Amino acid sequence: MVPLPEKALCTELLSARYDLARFDSGNEELNDYLKNDALKEQRQLLSKTQLCFHRDRLAGFITLTTDSIRIDKDKLDPSQIIDGCDYPAYPCILIARLAVDKKLHGYGVGSYLLSLAIGFVLEAPLGCRYLAVDPKEEAAKFYEKFGFKYWTKSRRRMFLNMRDVAQQLEPEESLDLWSVAE
Ligand SMILES: CC(C)(COP(=O)(O)OP(=O)(O)OC[C@H]1O[C@@H](n2cnc3c(N)ncnc32)[C@H](O)[C@@H]1OP(=O)(O)O)[C@@H](O)C(=O)NCCC(=O)NCCS
Repeated sequence: MVPLPEKALCTELLSARYDLARFDSGNEELNDYLKNDALKEQRQLLSKTQLCFHRDRLAGFITLTTDSIRIDKDKLDPSQIIDGCDYPAYPCILIARLAVDKKLHGYGVGSYLLSLAIGFVLEAPLGCRYLAVDPKEEAAKFYEKFGFKYWTKSRRRMFLNMRDVAQQLEPEESLDLWSVAE
């Protein structure tokens, strides 16, 4: 399937003025979350939900919240331990929910929303080393395409190391920042 052009998509922060009734991702739990819980949680500052529109029609949404990764060095892949920074936990943004209307599955809307989240994390005026998700089993391959990996044997949570993403985008600048931090 050919992805929709990015300029045909736009995002808005969830608010009461949007009609969510016709949205159907094919997953009842995710539909129900968007229609009944997302705004309540946003008003409590527990999470924020971005809606994605295609030609004025709701195409998908992503809900982000903060979290931290508590590191159990015995269980973690040694390649992921951060040299020189020995903290019990590291900052992380969690993709709490992500869903696309089932009529638009496979047209790049999920990728667009995930790229949006990656951009938020990179541009935020705060440190955030990881983007994480607890994927539905059937969606794990979608996240793998973006570089998310399972680190622990339980295979519950996947992580994207934002340091690697930053370095791929701007290798020299990222390395400079790293050497200053050291
Ligand atoms: C999973 C989901 C968000 C993906 O969004 P999407 O807009 O359909 O995905 P995209 O079109 O951006 O796909 C990007 C790539 O991932 C692949 N992909 C998408 N969903 C996939 C899946 N479930 N399994 C394997 N690969 C998948 C696509 O084939 C595409 O690959 P390509 O770049 O090689 O062509 C969407 O299918 C969805 O909402 N599913 C139901 C709800 C759900 O499972 N949400 C995830 C909760 S963790």
